[in-house]
Amino acid sequence: MIKPPKTLEPYSKASDDNHLNSANQFSVAPMMDWTNRHCRYFHRQLSQNAWLYTEMVTTGAIIYGNNLERFLGHDESDIPVALQLGGSGAKDMATCAKLGEEWGYSEINLNIGCPSDRVQNNMIGACLMAHPELVAENVAAMKAVVDIPVTVKTRIGIDDQEEFDILHQFIDGLAEAGVDGVIIHARKAWLEGLSPKQNRDVPPLNYAWVHQIKAEFPQLSIAINGGIKTLEQGQTHLQGYNDLPAVDGLMLGRSAYEQPYLLAEVDQQFYGSKHAIISREQVLENMKPYIEDHLSNDGKLNHVTRHMLGLFHGLPGGRIWRRHLSEHAFKAEAGIEVVEQAYRLVANEIQRMEDQK
Ligand SMILES: Cc1cc2nc3c(=O)[nH]c(=O)nc-3n(C[C@H](O)[C@H](O)[C@H](O)COP(=O)(O)O)c2cc1C
Repeated sequence: MIKPPKTLEPYSKASDDNHLNSANQFSVAPMMDWTNRHCRYFHRQLSQNAWLYTEMVTTGAIIYGNNLERFLGHDESDIPVALQLGGSGAKDMATCAKLGEEWGYSEINLNIGCPSDRVQNNMIGACLMAHPELVAENVAAMKAVVDIPVTVKTRIGIDDQEEFDILHQFIDGLAEAGVDGVIIHARKAWLEGLSPKQNRDVPPLNYAWVHQIKAEFPQLSIAINGGIKTLEQGQTHLQGYNDLPAVDGLMLGRSAYEQPYLLAEVDQQFYGSKHAIISREQVLENMKPYIEDHLSNDGKLNHVTRHMLGLFHGLPGGRIWRRHLSEHAFKAEAGIEVVEQAYRLVANEIQRMEDQK
């Protein structure tokens, strides 16, 4: 039986009610070095409703980095946006969560999924799945000091955690601590022997466990993440999975970054928006003042355009766009004309293909 698409409730900044959080929404995953403020500004042009995420920021960077603007500064337009924290000291987590709230974030998210060696040594990321009480303590400490939602992004397990019960107990601890939602990357992290990149592909996906968690914690917002390539595929998880219940939210990482134009349909497909889908040309027009502002503050063109390389993915000219920007946007003198030239090349290529038909 074909079910109608599920519609999510759009976030309203005016509302005091914080039941909305990224775990019951459509979100773009936190991605280190990728989802910085330029990337989020670009993504926001494509979807008004998708929840956006910062890269992971460690509590150490915020507390000792002596540069709050660098670590917490963000554009108003990226709201709703979650600040993702990495850390494990309850006092520091609470301090940083409070700062995040003061700096205008819509949610604080705790990273329990990162498998990198560097963070393991500091008790940050996926290794904390072996310390459920500590994670619960962190969540409780943050919940005690902020009014915005506190969520956790986690894996389904680490290393030799083979039993569903272990994941269940972990989530149970979070629920007891008052977590507002949990985003689950549906694969384990192997802390020894795999690089962070391999840890995003090699451990097999297990979507059933994420839906099973939803079955066992019906009151908790649960989002699914990992390997979702299209909005249609995402929509199926909002309908259920085999005989298991639907999850509340979806998080897309690499597919959203590499093919950002898929975000242009999110508002219509997930939030019931009746607005026309924004064209790629309009997105470019919207980006121009932002880019010019960045350039006039001594920024480099490439800082912004590197996140836009996938805009024409899958279209004739998509490769030309990518190549032109990659070859020219990093140059010190590169200005907005590089973007305009790249677009003209794409438009010519599209026209050439049309003429051949
Ligand atoms: C370049 C890159 C950086 C990432 N950095 C983070 C991070 O800072 N915090 C985090 O929780 N996950 C991080 N991830 C993992 C993603 O958030 C996501 O869980 C993972 O890519 C699986 O989702 P996907 O298959 O939709 O990409 C990163 C992924 C990539 C590709």
